[in-house]
Amino acid sequence: MRRVVGIDLGTQSVKVAVVAADGAVQSSAVRPYPVDSARPGWAETAPQAWLDAALDAAREALAGSDTPPDAIGLSGQMHGVVLCDDDGVPVRSAITWADTRSGAEARRIAETLGRAELARLGSAPFPGFAGVTLAWLAEHEPDALARARWALQPKDWLRLQLTGEVATDPSDASGTLLYDLVTGAWSPAALAACGVSADLLAPVIASDAIAGTVTQPGSVLTGLPVATGGADAACGVHGLGLTPGLGALALGTGAQLSSMIASPDPDDTLRTHTFAAVGPIGAAYYRLAAVQSGGLALERALAWLGAGIDEAQAALASGVRADDPIFLPFVAGERSPYLDPDLRASWQGLSLATTREALLRSVLEGMAYTIAAAYDAIVESGASPAAPLTTLGGGSRDAAYVALLADAIGIALRPAAVADATVVGATRLAMTALGESMPPVAITAHGIVEPAGDALVALRRDRWEAAVEEARRA
Ligand code: XUL
Repeated sequence: MRRVVGIDLGTQSVKVAVVAADGAVQSSAVRPYPVDSARPGWAETAPQAWLDAALDAAREALAGSDTPPDAIGLSGQMHGVVLCDDDGVPVRSAITWADTRSGAEARRIAETLGRAELARLGSAPFPGFAGVTLAWLAEHEPDALARARWALQPKDWLRLQLTGEVATDPSDASGTLLYDLVTGAWSPAALAACGVSADLLAPVIASDAIAGTVTQPGSVLTGLPVATGGADAACGVHGLGLTPGLGALALGTGAQLSSMIASPDPDDTLRTHTFAAVGPIGAAYYRLAAVQSGGLALERALAWLGAGIDEAQAALASGVRADDPIFLPFVAGERSPYLDPDLRASWQGLSLATTREALLRSVLEGMAYTIAAAYDAIVESGASPAAPLTTLGGGSRDAAYVALLADAIGIALRPAAVADATVVGATRLAMTALGESMPPVAITAHGIVEPAGDALVALRRDRWEAAVEEARRA
């Protein structure tokens, strides 16, 4: 049976997995790397750290296997940018998606392009998106930009290092704000608004094409063909085998709500992203609501209160309470559905009676209502996913939180255990590139959670929405 290697180049670590043609993950290894923040809001990584970590993890994942694998598939963190010279040597550190330095450029690009043009690009300009970051670099580091031959997505830089070939795929191209989803090509209007030369960008080819062969000497990967690969969110959707009409809710450090659509009909309100799915240009698309504070806010609140996750879960175990404070979870601004990098977190309605338990409960509530608001934006954009909605990740293991989410959103949820959807999505692309196929990951569902229709949840969500509107006006 054929075996392929998946390399998922994440934000804080790389995961390498060896997957058989039947979808079984045979071995895997993870290596971390730092995200450097020289100034508040900056988030950079030296690309060499990605390469070293990927080769090291590949060595571990393939240790002890007698026969070499057949191909490699790549998945990578989205939106960031690596400037490198003709030989692929970075001219500066990579600026990742989590970097917020380019707020002024995002506002200027939004004004220049206008809503109709932005809808074709699939997203509102947001700091950390390649086009917006490149506009910042043009303004603040013109010398670095002048030295660059290529401006690449993280996984595309990794492939250049491995194979010497330059390419990108539709799913990563659509996360740059420089790609027209309707024409399936780099957008002249976006390039002009961001001040980016088209020559800097890689040719866009199918995610499941062979994009080169590993020439890196002395690696366990040497000689293997490499599929173009895709963006991590798109590989996750592909790993789950979602087709148009189906969606998933991933609850991790952020919450990501994805819903597959057959055509690039835009979300004219720009509250959600429309990205190209993996595959050939124009194969399919997905709407993505990226809720940054759905997870991150809990991490911060646990640190502020010196509490553990068990304490937060116990606080919500018997549901929401009428007198609890209202918590806005926007510790790092918010993408979907507010697209406002400057929104901030706050508690309202604290009193002498407020307990630490109530604070923790209100944090989970604030995250659930943000995810519910993002879900509404997905539905209003015409991309409703079918019920029950598969719910994955750490948050899906907390029964009380899932029950609150189902009620706040008003949809049945299907909490599930799914291992490695993203990296398996990357290996599925490699298998297709070899002319064969691999099934999606196995999903172990733990029953279905129906919305309970609790009037108190509806009332508190209304109060929460009013507080958000007030914060956004301020
Ligand atoms: C999607 C997004 C994430 C990052 C995190 O918009 O930001 O999928 O790629 O890795």
